Amino acid sequence: MKKVNIGIIGGGLMGKESASAFGRWFALNDFPVSVELIAVCDLNEKVLEWYKAIPTVSLLTTNYKELLARPDIDIVYVALPHNLHQQFYLEVLESGKDLLAEKPFGIDLEAALAIQEAAERLGRFVRCSSEMPFLPGPQRVMKEVLSGNLGEIIEIKAGFLHSSDLDTSKPINWKRQVKFCGEIGVMGDLGMHVLHVPLRLGWKPELVHANLQKIITERPDGKGGMAKCDTWNNATLHSTVAIENNAVPMTLEMKRIAPGETNTWYIEVLGTKGGVKYSTKDTKALWIFKVGDEQWWQRTDLGFKGVPFPTITGGIFEPGFTDCFMQMLAAYVAERAGALNNRFGCVTPEEAVASHYVFAAALKSFANNTVEKVEYQLEKLSI
Ligand SMILES: NC(=O)c1ccc[n+]([C@@H]2O[C@H](COP(=O)([O-])OP(=O)(O)OC[C@H]3O[C@@H](n4cnc5c(N)ncnc54)[C@H](O)[C@@H]3O)[C@@H](O)[C@H]2O)c1
Repeated sequence: MKKVNIGIIGGGLMGKESASAFGRWFALNDFPVSVELIAVCDLNEKVLEWYKAIPTVSLLTTNYKELLARPDIDIVYVALPHNLHQQFYLEVLESGKDLLAEKPFGIDLEAALAIQEAAERLGRFVRCSSEMPFLPGPQRVMKEVLSGNLGEIIEIKAGFLHSSDLDTSKPINWKRQVKFCGEIGVMGDLGMHVLHVPLRLGWKPELVHANLQKIITERPDGKGGMAKCDTWNNATLHSTVAIENNAVPMTLEMKRIAPGETNTWYIEVLGTKGGVKYSTKDTKALWIFKVGDEQWWQRTDLGFKGVPFPTITGGIFEPGFTDCFMQMLAAYVAERAGALNNRFGCVTPEEAVASHYVFAAALKSFANNTVEKVEYQLEKLSI
């Protein structure tokens, strides 16, 4: 069996999540490529300490150049604050390695374009993280849309909702500061997750009107004082997409302050003949709308069966965050090896760049209270 070696730069929340998925790779049934996490870089020694429990890891370093110099590393997963994406992603690509990037794929549109350009020029395999669509529910939503059962599509709603920021005593971190996470704020945080499925279905926003909200503007700095919290907490984008020559409204919600929601990813698509909706709030439930003499929403309890890459987990068991994250990593490794076989793939650089065009238009829309045309540089996009 082919084997690929992985390095991680940024061993925090997501670095650990990926390490845990690589560590149980054997759970994937008949997967054509094995993986081994062999090196981790983080500035924080305490974070590196955690990785000492992983027997395959032979390099723990605070110097990422040491990791990039290792000739036996094939793929680098970079999970760093957004202000570091461009520099680190470019250095990974220049070092001759393939890249699994984290969203938002650069702090802004300019950074995303620079990363896309380098990936193309250097011929590296690059994809961006967005795991929720790998759950069976979103997979079924896409299948239902593509089946044509919905008739003429008349409305789309998608979103990702958090609420932990309602806790005003939560100390500030880099994610709530523009200089680290970007002017796009919550759009950079949650927007790629929201746009992954719409973009893959060919629904590229053409017009955008944005409502952006700064709700909590200071937080404890962790040292007894208060610090400015200057990012957009919530974004609601009212967009228009062209579907079969119809201008269809698509609402995209990205919220850090959505009371009652922990990590709720959802999508709802309505058509003249049917509809489909899924939310991680009710992880197992797929809802399909049908019109006959009467109209009804039909609930199906999904199990594990619909994941793109089958595992040892029984079909009736329910999947969660760790499972879709592992499915996403499997999709990356499979696609890189030419073994995706028409399954759903990770966000492409073109899609990540497209999301930045939408976010840039949204910033402009809110600043001027205008409806903005999203000016994609089409020659750069092949989605
Ligand atoms: N896919 C998802 O669901 C998801 C969820 C959360 C975050 N993210 C993304 O993952 C990325 C990282 O977020 P996180 O939540 O893991 O952040 P985090 O703060 O938990 O981890 C970042 C780590 O990077 C380290 N670091 C900072 N600067 C460094 C440097 N110069 N060299 C080496 N290490 C350095 C920090 O010490 C920290 O351990 C971001 O792009 C974020 O948007 C994705």
